[in-house]
Amino acid sequence: MAASEQKVVYIDEDVGKDEPSVAGTEEAPYKTLAYAFQHHPPTTPGIQYLTRKSQTGPVEDGNEASRLEWKPATKSAMKKANSLWEQAKKKAAKAEQLALREKEEAEKRRQVLEEAKKVVIKEDPSLPKPVRIRLDETNPNIVQLGSPDGSKKGTRVRVLGRVHRLRPQKDVIFITLYDGYGYLQCILTGDLTRTYDAMTLTLETSMAIHGEMREVPPKQHAPNNRELHADYFTIIGKAAGDKEAITNRVAPDAEPHVLLDNRHLVLRGETASAVMKVRAAALRAFRKTFEENRLLEVTPPAMVQTQVEGGATLFQFDYYGEPAYLTQSSQLYLETCLPSLGDVFCICPSFRAEKSLTRRHLSEYTHIEAELDFITFEDLLDHLETVISRVIELLLEDPQIAKFIHDMNPDFKPPARPFKRMRYAEAIEWLREHDIPNEEGKPHEFGDDIAEAAERKMTDTINQPIFLTHFPAEIKAFYMKKDASDPRVTESVDVLMPGVGEIVGGSCRIDDYDELIAAYQRENMDPSPYYWYTDQRKYGTSPHGGYGLGLERFLAWICGRYTIRECCLYPRFTGRCTP
Ligand code: 4AD
Repeated sequence: MAASEQKVVYIDEDVGKDEPSVAGTEEAPYKTLAYAFQHHPPTTPGIQYLTRKSQTGPVEDGNEASRLEWKPATKSAMKKANSLWEQAKKKAAKAEQLALREKEEAEKRRQVLEEAKKVVIKEDPSLPKPVRIRLDETNPNIVQLGSPDGSKKGTRVRVLGRVHRLRPQKDVIFITLYDGYGYLQCILTGDLTRTYDAMTLTLETSMAIHGEMREVPPKQHAPNNRELHADYFTIIGKAAGDKEAITNRVAPDAEPHVLLDNRHLVLRGETASAVMKVRAAALRAFRKTFEENRLLEVTPPAMVQTQVEGGATLFQFDYYGEPAYLTQSSQLYLETCLPSLGDVFCICPSFRAEKSLTRRHLSEYTHIEAELDFITFEDLLDHLETVISRVIELLLEDPQIAKFIHDMNPDFKPPARPFKRMRYAEAIEWLREHDIPNEEGKPHEFGDDIAEAAERKMTDTINQPIFLTHFPAEIKAFYMKKDASDPRVTESVDVLMPGVGEIVGGSCRIDDYDELIAAYQRENMDPSPYYWYTDQRKYGTSPHGGYGLGLERFLAWICGRYTIRECCLYPRFTGRCTP
């Protein structure tokens, strides 16, 4: 019903409704006067507003029906509704204006972009042929820097990469390009900024840029203190923008599971890629250190039919109808290599079906394991200290890696030698003295497994690497050799680092045949699948030992990462096997 036809508008503050289905009639009244004003403005000639509170209104002369009587709206109610109506009108006008402006702007942008499509850039054939470089190329024989004002010419280069940062300004676009090797500031000016591609450029777009390399002007900053003044560019692959832009997919404050689902995009970030580069450098450094110490690399199988570290964390699968497991550790295989290959190491994945979600447990991790022949327990500890120290030395010798480590973990210092050595029994004493209880909330007793939380508290308090040694046989794996001077304990070592806790587990191995058979029995293990391991003790046994180091834990310590999940490419842990 049109407003002009209705002269009387009804408002029932109790049962009326402010909604389009209601017409403001006696049968279908509105709820508020303000709403009635919006649909039947007080400027309508001869309009009248009748109101009532049919349920809660005052009862006159004891007559309930008096509530149903319609009365003209009071002056003050009219005034209030009028001011609300005026406000609503202003708001609506503003919104309309804004929508109009937005539409105009969108249209203007469409026109500008249409115009931009007509701007075609061509490479100037009179310019020197560009030299293709990676973004970290700083060799002055390949790239010479011109002066900031262009008075001295720099090398003309061709670079390929993706847009990492983008800062469009009037008539100039600053791009930080990245290519996995480095970052380079590139500057587009003139017609280059007026092209459709430049005006719609998005982060992660892949492109080629040609131009001259110059020093950055004084007091300005850019990677390697240089910038590329572009004279030509081409887009190779546009990256999604707007809602699909990478910054929306992996916002810095996103929930951890979102970041994990989008790990492939997170890996493009500076920190994630820095960790991966330190990881690669650590692998190089371990291999170099092992080579220096004459350990030979071998690659044992991942599919096995024996356990090493207890049945609780075995991943079992069907192997042509037989039960088999993903390896927990290559140790037993490494031991079999000693007679013919000498000391050996391997860098292979190990698998653990960990039941709990912690920040230092993965289901698949990179295990760096070594085995040394004809050694004492002291030799093993000395070797471990040498290897860890040398690897850190090699990492810090590389300026790029040292910078990554420093940026991520500014407080990192190579640990002082000799590393602190502490027997398990001393640790139990220490925990008692510091009132750190065991898992049951009671003071630690000799024989207790030192739980993760207690171990971390102790390591963080002592705040230096600890070689924790001589664990009781009952809480350690079946293969560990007993200490001749105290048969309650084994020649075993855990290396504990502040921030992460245990990064290495190692020991001397039982080398006596009968003792090993007794150990299988003690652990209720069927010795038959281990015949090849037992044979070691039958054919020229030797005192030997070794260790396993979790690469991700080592990296979490060096790079100051909260969880080891950040220290591998695509982490696998309870409930996650994607991407
Ligand atoms: O102490 P562990 O279980 O020792 C062994 O597997 C020995 N057989 C190794 C050997 O002597 N060759 O594991 C060794 C190291 C731990 O100190 C830890 O750094 C890492 O492997 N590790 C894990 N890392 C990530 N996620 C897990 N679930 C891990 N379990 C062990």
